[in-house]
Amino acid sequence: MTDHILTSSEGGVLRLTFNRPDKKNAITAAMYADLADGLEKAEKDPSIRVVLFDSVGDIFTAGNDIADFMAGASTPSPSGEQPSVMRFLYNIATAEKSLVAAVQGGAVGVGVTMLLHCDLVYASEKATFKTPFVDLALVPEAASSLLMPQGAGHQRAAEMLLAGKKIDAARAREFGFVNDVVAHDALAGIALDAAENLASKSPVSLQLSKKLMKGDRKAILTRMEEEGVLFAERLQSADFQEAGMAFLQKRKPVFSNGG
Ligand code: COA
Repeated sequence: MTDHILTSSEGGVLRLTFNRPDKKNAITAAMYADLADGLEKAEKDPSIRVVLFDSVGDIFTAGNDIADFMAGASTPSPSGEQPSVMRFLYNIATAEKSLVAAVQGGAVGVGVTMLLHCDLVYASEKATFKTPFVDLALVPEAASSLLMPQGAGHQRAAEMLLAGKKIDAARAREFGFVNDVVAHDALAGIALDAAENLASKSPVSLQLSKKLMKGDRKAILTRMEEEGVLFAERLQSADFQEAGMAFLQKRKPVFSNGG
């Protein structure tokens, strides 16, 4: 457990809160483990009906911790053990309990792709969304290469997944992965009300209905595996090392022809 993910539960809602504001809520391996544990607890505990993701500070999450990426925390261990990020992504993609998110500021990388697996997403008018995987010489993850084009259309998905463009909350709503854009100060209350509303419904009916809506998740899991193989390869590339160093040294990367 780390205090970088706060966990609390009330009225059938398990709240998982990003709490590493000094690093813009960048997600470390330990934080992924806490998020994955939280989702597992929610699936097993009948008193939890809904999971609510929210965040402390001005950024929802800056995505994966880049220093962790560079240290190899996102690739399988030599013994073949999956990194905690994969456990989190699997759990969020297969969750049967309802998932609600309140995005109060910038969401980057997995901070966006995790939303594609949520059922209700509310965004502050200050929220922004960016998936700079290609800018980091990586590839998309969390089955976003499948789900984003499905939801937004290929060209709009390319704006985010290829061009790495930052979009605002209104555009994210147009893309289809944000339900409502709300006043910044009202966000927490609106998201909590939505979570409590779901939690007040017949839990069996709620779960069965989500299961029917999601259908067979095999295509999502298969795509996540394909992305994972390529992502792990790209993490070993010279271009990713350059992009990571450039971020940490606060400069622009210079990419080679070799990749
Ligand atoms: N991994 C590791 N550290 C990160 C981080 C990340 N993803 N995002 C931010 N941080 C750290 C910065 O290194 C900085 O640390 P320092 O104070 O020790 O120098 C601190 O958080 C504050 O970040 P800073 O960039 O100064 O804040 P900002 O308000 O100017 O910008 C962001 C916020 C989110 C726009 C910017 O930090 C950013 O682009 N982060 C990287 C996002 C990213 O590429 N994520 C990976 C996606 S796959």
